[in-house]
Amino acid sequence: MHLLIPAAGSGRRMGSDRNKLLLPLFGKPLLAWTLLAAQHSRQIEWIGIIGQPMDWQDFKTIAVELGLVDRIQFIQGGSTRQESVYCGLKGLPAHADRVLIHDGARCLATPELFDRCAEALETTPGLIAAVPVKDTIKVVGEAALIQSTPDRSQLWAAQTPQGFDVKQLLACHEQGIRQGWEVTDDAALFEQCGLPVKIVLGEETNLKVTTPVDLAIAEFILRQRLAVASSSDHQD
Ligand code: C5P
Repeated sequence: MHLLIPAAGSGRRMGSDRNKLLLPLFGKPLLAWTLLAAQHSRQIEWIGIIGQPMDWQDFKTIAVELGLVDRIQFIQGGSTRQESVYCGLKGLPAHADRVLIHDGARCLATPELFDRCAEALETTPGLIAAVPVKDTIKVVGEAALIQSTPDRSQLWAAQTPQGFDVKQLLACHEQGIRQGWEVTDDAALFEQCGLPVKIVLGEETNLKVTTPVDLAIAEFILRQRLAVASSSDHQD
């Protein structure tokens, strides 16, 4: 399976002047945790990191430290996530027929989640990891007035990985460029083209690190995970 990692954003909402994926998280750059999960997936054979040239050197250092250089390709991204993924799709090897796309900022996804999405992608052309929402969601209009309250039992929070047939997703991106669609995930392009997108159960801990609070929560979750792993090692 081919995996594209959009990693060409900035640290604006994190209040940082550098790419947030290079910020330290429990002793490693954030992106290293995302790559570690992909590295331990049984299904991922090739990884394309979509980034900006100013970050190449740091990304390469991370890849070298993880022993991943042979499996990684660096691809230049664009000014939005949508543009970056389009660049990534064009940078895939010609024989890639299915692709998983996973935001670099979702550094807590597990190898099992990658495996589950890759396996499901064998029988469907489009899927996303998602979890049922826990909050009641409000649609809010002008003057902070609520317009409606959608039925929560039908609402899911979209995550990544998202997986697609490469030719179909490329065609959707190209249609989106022609029509001026602006979307925040790839499933939205598939949906707007009338193509089916299936849900694969995601993980509650698969948060997208966006603000300093997310970074603190991610650190807490990693600390817990590593403590559990080392206590079970001692018991073996
Ligand atoms: O900004 P946000 O966290 O929503 O971005 C989601 C993912 O998309 C991040 O991993 C970020 O690095 C990536 N991105 C990108 N190119 C951009 C903007 C964001 O690859 N121009």
